[in-house]
Amino acid sequence: MSVGILGTGHYLPDHVLTNEDLEEIVDTTDEWIQTRTGIKERRIAKDGIEASDMAYYAAKQALEEADVSAEDIDLILVATVTPDTPFPNVSCMIQEKLGAKNAAAMDVSAACTGFVYALVTGEQFVKTGAYEKVLVVGVDKLSNILDWSDRNTCVLMGDGAGAVVIGEVGEERGILSFELGSDGEGGELLYQNENGYITMNGREVFKFAVTQMPESSMNVIEKAGLEREDVDYLIPHQANIRIMEAARRRLDVPKEKMATTIENYGNNSAASIPIALSETVKNGKIQEDDVVVLVGFGGGLTWGALALRWGK
Ligand code: ACO
Repeated sequence: MSVGILGTGHYLPDHVLTNEDLEEIVDTTDEWIQTRTGIKERRIAKDGIEASDMAYYAAKQALEEADVSAEDIDLILVATVTPDTPFPNVSCMIQEKLGAKNAAAMDVSAACTGFVYALVTGEQFVKTGAYEKVLVVGVDKLSNILDWSDRNTCVLMGDGAGAVVIGEVGEERGILSFELGSDGEGGELLYQNENGYITMNGREVFKFAVTQMPESSMNVIEKAGLEREDVDYLIPHQANIRIMEAARRRLDVPKEKMATTIENYGNNSAASIPIALSETVKNGKIQEDDVVVLVGFGGGLTWGALALRWGK
C-alpha cells in the first residue's frame, strides 16, 4: 500500500521580531545574523498562544485541504519539544479542539527532526492497515525556552506550526523511502539546560548538519531507486541557509526548487519542514507526480529524511 499526504496546513503567529529589534535586546547586528544564518525576521507567539493553539490552526487547515473530517482521523501525532504541559499532551488538546473523537493521540519528541519521525511513524500505522487517516503536526514555541540574553541562540529561532493529513494514495505515489537516525553521544551539543533554556554548541552542530543533511537526502533518493536528477523539490529543515545550501548543492537542485522560509520565520524547530511544505504547496510550486525530499536534523542528536512522489 502507498501512503501519502492528502492535505497540508500551517500557522504562524502575527507578531514579527526583526533583526533590528534583536539589536536592542542582545549584542548583535542585522548584518551578523543575515550573513551567518540567512534570517531577517521571525514570528513570536504572544502569551496565551501556546503550542496547542498553533497546532490546532495548522491541523484545521490540513483537514480542510485534505477534505477529511475530524471524526475520520484515527490517530493524531504531534511532534514538539515545547508542549503546553507535559500532560495532557498537545495531541489530546487538539483532539478535543478539533472534535476528532475517534482518534488515538500521542506526542513525539525528536527536537527539530520530530516531524519527520512522526510522519514516518504515522505511515507505518496506515501501511499495516491499522489506521486509515493520520494527522501529523509539527509545532514548537521555542520562544518559551530561549534565554533572551544568549545571542548564540535567541537570534535563531521562531514559533509556528505545520500539519499534514496522511492516508492511502495511488500506486507509486506517496512516501517512497525514509531514513531515521540518532546519536545520543551528541546530546551535549544541543539541549535544554537546568534553567530550562536551549544551550547549543553552534559550531559543532553546524559541522554535523552540513554533512548529515546531504548524506540523508542522498540515502533516501537511492533507497527509492531514484537519481539526483529526479528530485523536483527539496524541503530542508530551516536552521541555517548555509546548511540548507550544502544539501541543495549536493543534490544539484536549482535554487528555486528549494523551499526557503528561514529568511522570514527563522528556525521553527519541529514545525519548519511542514510549514515550508505547506507554503510550497499553497504557492503551487509542487506539481502532481513531483519527487519531493524532506530532510531534517536536530537535538538528540537526531536526523531523518524521506522521499515522496506528490499526488493522491
Ligand atoms: N551576533 C553576533 N555575534 C555572535 C552572535 C550573534 N547573534 N552569536 C554568536 N556570535 C559570536 C560568538 O560569540 C563567536 O564569537 P567568538 O569567536 O569571539 O567567540 C562568533 O560569533 C561565532 O562565530 P562562529 O562560530 O564562527 O559562527 P558560525 O559561522 O558557526 O555561526 C551559528 C554560528 C549561526 C550558530 C552556526 O554555527 C549554526 O548555524 N550552527 C547550527 C545551528 C543549528 O542548526 N542549530 C539547530 C538548532 S535546532 C533545535 O533543535 C532547536
